[in-house]
Amino acid sequence: MENGELLAFAEDVARGAGDILRSNYGRRQKVHFKGEIDLVTDVDRESEKYILGRIRETFPDHGVLSEESPELSSSSPYRWIVDPLDGTTNYAHGYPCFCVSVAVEREGKTAAGVVYDPLLDETFTATPGSGAFRNGERISVSETADLRKSLLATGFAYDVKVSKDNNFDYFRAFVFTGQAIRRDGSAALDLCYLACGRFDGFWELKLKPWDTAAGLLIVREAGGTATRLDGTAYDIHQADLLASNGRIHGRMIEVLQGAKK
Ligand code: IPD
Ligand code: CA
Ligand code: CA
Repeated sequence: MENGELLAFAEDVARGAGDILRSNYGRRQKVHFKGEIDLVTDVDRESEKYILGRIRETFPDHGVLSEESPELSSSSPYRWIVDPLDGTTNYAHGYPCFCVSVAVEREGKTAAGVVYDPLLDETFTATPGSGAFRNGERISVSETADLRKSLLATGFAYDVKVSKDNNFDYFRAFVFTGQAIRRDGSAALDLCYLACGRFDGFWELKLKPWDTAAGLLIVREAGGTATRLDGTAYDIHQADLLASNGRIHGRMIEVLQGAKK
């Protein structure tokens, strides 16, 4: 299958799921707890049911890794990686920052990625080698080369209250070295905002493949750089991600290393 065909399907499915998020947004949500602060709503599940149903109907032999269900493994070269609602805590509180993230791998390499924000009606898309787009228009990372002028984004994992590996040192270090930091609560959107130049850099610990699979391809296709926090190679099975416009990447690694001393 062509990447373009996979992308068209992924986009259609992400927008369909986004309609579910939009039409239920603002209502009091039924919240279930996976951990003390790790929530899932009925809408996460409804969105996932819709996406997995569409994938199964169209590609019954493909594998699927989706946040709220056990992995569906398969011998097919294709695997879908899905976050049916990235930004669940925001969604449950009526804070308008959340999205659907859908990516598909062929032989372990991302062949298409889509992140859809249903409230702003923004669709971020990419396929390898063809660039990254927002609503069909080409996007690229910012040109900011000075960390002091950079708007950064990060997030905190659900074990932040109990783990020593909690990102506070890094957060503190970037408060002093960057221009400002946002903690918006949707890693997939953070990556897309980096890809289109709204953010200049992003880092986070303890991410999952469904948080980053689509966004990573979108960042790279927009000209951005993505590594682990120590500058070594990142793939979506690593938990820690440093992504930037490339120009501030080296300086961000220095700050991260300095923060641990
Ligand atoms: C979370 C969001 C958040 C990030 C967490 C993720 P979820 O995903 O992306 O920004 O800080 O690490 O788990 O649970 O809303 O799908
Ligand atoms: Ca997520
Ligand atoms: Ca989710």
